[in-house]
Amino acid sequence: MANDIYAVVGHPISHSKSPRIHSLFAEQTGEAVEYTAIQAPLDGFESTVTTFFSQGGRGLNVTVPFKEQAWRMAARRTWRAEKAGAANTLYLDSEGVLTADNTDGAGLVRDLRHNHQLPLAGQRILVLGAGGAVRGVLGPLLAERPAAVVIANRTAAKAQALADLFAADRADTELTGCGFDGPDSAFDLIINGTSASLQGDVPPIAPAVVGPDTTVYDMMYAPTLTAFNRWALEAGAARALDGFGMLIEQAAESFQAWRGVRPDTAPVMAALRDTVG
Ligand code: ATR
Repeated sequence: MANDIYAVVGHPISHSKSPRIHSLFAEQTGEAVEYTAIQAPLDGFESTVTTFFSQGGRGLNVTVPFKEQAWRMAARRTWRAEKAGAANTLYLDSEGVLTADNTDGAGLVRDLRHNHQLPLAGQRILVLGAGGAVRGVLGPLLAERPAAVVIANRTAAKAQALADLFAADRADTELTGCGFDGPDSAFDLIINGTSASLQGDVPPIAPAVVGPDTTVYDMMYAPTLTAFNRWALEAGAARALDGFGMLIEQAAESFQAWRGVRPDTAPVMAALRDTVG
C-alpha cells in the first residue's frame, strides 16, 4: 500500500528538521507516512496548499513566513489555532474541509510539564515578547492555570493588546502586559519568546526577575547556550532550557492530530539533539 503524503511548507525550507523528525515518528509507530519539504514561492502559498491536497496529500506543517496565511485560508480552526491567529498544521477534516491547528503552545506545555517536570498551575510566569511566537502559545499556557502571567515587550502597547486579547481565556490567572521596565521581582518561570536571540541580543529586563529557584526557557534553540540563557544563568537562575523539546513536541502534536497516534518523543530527542543548529 502506498504511503500517505505529508510535508512542511515554508520559504526557505532547506533548514527544516521536520522531515527527519516525522520520518523517525513514522518508523517508530509503523504508520505509513512519507514526509517531505516544499518551498512555496513567497506569492504562491495558497496555490501550493490547494495543489498539495488536490493531489491527495494528507497534511501539512506550515512555517515562516506562511503561518498567518495558513490560518486565514482555512475554513475551520481548532480553538488553539483560532486564538493563536496563526497555524502550523493543516489537514482536511472528516468532511473534507481545510482545517487549521496550532500545536506550538501544546508543544511548549508538554515540554515544560512532561519532559522537564515543571509545574505550571499556580506559578508566576514572565513571558518576554508579544509577537506571533508568543501569541501562538498563550492559549495552552493559560489553560494550565498559572497564578500570574506578565507579558513584557519592547513595545509595551503590543503586550497590553495581547493581554486584552486573552483576557477571556485567563480563568483565575492574573494577566498583564507591560514594557521591559515593568517586572522587578522574581518569577518561577521566564519564557523568552522575543526574536532578540536571533541577533544575540538579550531583552533589557531587571536581573531581579531571576531568583535562585527561577527556570528560564528560551523558545529558540541552538547547539550552544543562547544569549538569553547565558544572561539568566549569570543572574542566578536555577535552570536554563531551550526550545529543542518544544520543536519535537509540536511535531508530535501534529502527528497525533493527523494519525491519531502519539509518538514517544524521548528517543527522537536523543537521536536529534546533537544535530540541531
Ligand atoms: P515572531 O513570529 O518571532 O514572534 P514577530 O511577530 O516579529 O516575530 O515578533 C518579534 C518579537 O520579538 C516582538 O515581541 C519584538 O518586539 P516589538 O514588538 O517591540 O517589535 C521582539 N524583538 C525583536 N527583536 C528584539 C530585540 N532586539 N530586543 C527585544 N525584543 C525584540
